[in-house]
Amino acid sequence: MSGFPTNQWYVAARSDEVAGAPFGRMICGEPIALFRRRDGSIAALEDRCPHRKYALSKGAVIGDEIQCGYHGLQFDGTGACTRIPSQTTIPRGFGTGAYAVVEKHALIFVWLGDAAKADPALLPDWSINAKPGWSAVHGYHYVKSNYQLLIDNLLDLTHLAIVHKTTLAGPGLMENPLEVETDGDAVRARRMMRNVDPTPLHRAVKGLSGKIDRSHLTEFFAPAYVGVWVWAAPVGSNDKDPHHVVLNSLTPETERSTHYFWSVARCFALDDQRITKILHDMNKIAFDEDQAILEEQQRMIDGDRSGAALASLDGDTAGAAARRIVAKKLAMGAQ
Ligand code: FES
Ligand SMILES: [Fe+2]
Repeated sequence: MSGFPTNQWYVAARSDEVAGAPFGRMICGEPIALFRRRDGSIAALEDRCPHRKYALSKGAVIGDEIQCGYHGLQFDGTGACTRIPSQTTIPRGFGTGAYAVVEKHALIFVWLGDAAKADPALLPDWSINAKPGWSAVHGYHYVKSNYQLLIDNLLDLTHLAIVHKTTLAGPGLMENPLEVETDGDAVRARRMMRNVDPTPLHRAVKGLSGKIDRSHLTEFFAPAYVGVWVWAAPVGSNDKDPHHVVLNSLTPETERSTHYFWSVARCFALDDQRITKILHDMNKIAFDEDQAILEEQQRMIDGDRSGAALASLDGDTAGAAARRIVAKKLAMGAQ
């Protein structure tokens, strides 16, 4: 099924991407211009000037308004035209579209559908991204594949052993079952791996060298969020705290391209810049590897004249459950 659920929050940008100048990004096929008012609040407008359809994000911020970079028309944060330099009157109702927007957890979220339904309570709980006692590194990948392929990838971590040999691979993934549960708009998948060797990443950031117990909890929140909580500790220590958390926001740009925002947060060695760098660099290496796979996968899907469906095996249980949730939202229309 194609299309995107629209009455949903999607990450449009990291907070630090939107400073003094307008910022343009296509989300679910809609071009969006973001800009900051003088009080720091964010506005999100349709990125098309209603005059001759030039991209507003190519213009400038003037006070609390955005000025088109072609003939200088100005628009406020509601999209209403406030100034036409070449004439004294503004046609009634003349303006561009506006979107509900919220800035939270160091991210900017937009709601593409009915603004009256844009409830901040429906935002993903990505508080760990900017929480005291936690330290996070961030990254962004522009991936030329459908966002659901990225979600599938994160929900079937058996690929770590094959794809991420120098970073995230370790024994136990293939040999231990995945426990999957669906809970409303969420899917949770857990895998416990006992008495196994540490991954390269565990060795590097935690200094683990002997046998460890480790586990993953992977949580999908519709329509486009996957959190991965990772535990790793010497055998028998029953460590309650996650080792680190990987927050993934998979925002569709088009049917075949995705804005992949990721953060890796940890609650240990907060001031150790060496560990910060290792966590960033090892995860970036892994996500570069994912990107290569996902883009090749999309290319093969596009060229498959048989139109055969993807096969769903045991490892795809969580991904298939996530796809069912999104498909249900699409079938309900504008959800
Ligand atoms: S196209 Fe924007 S002012 Fe003319
Ligand atoms: Fe991966």
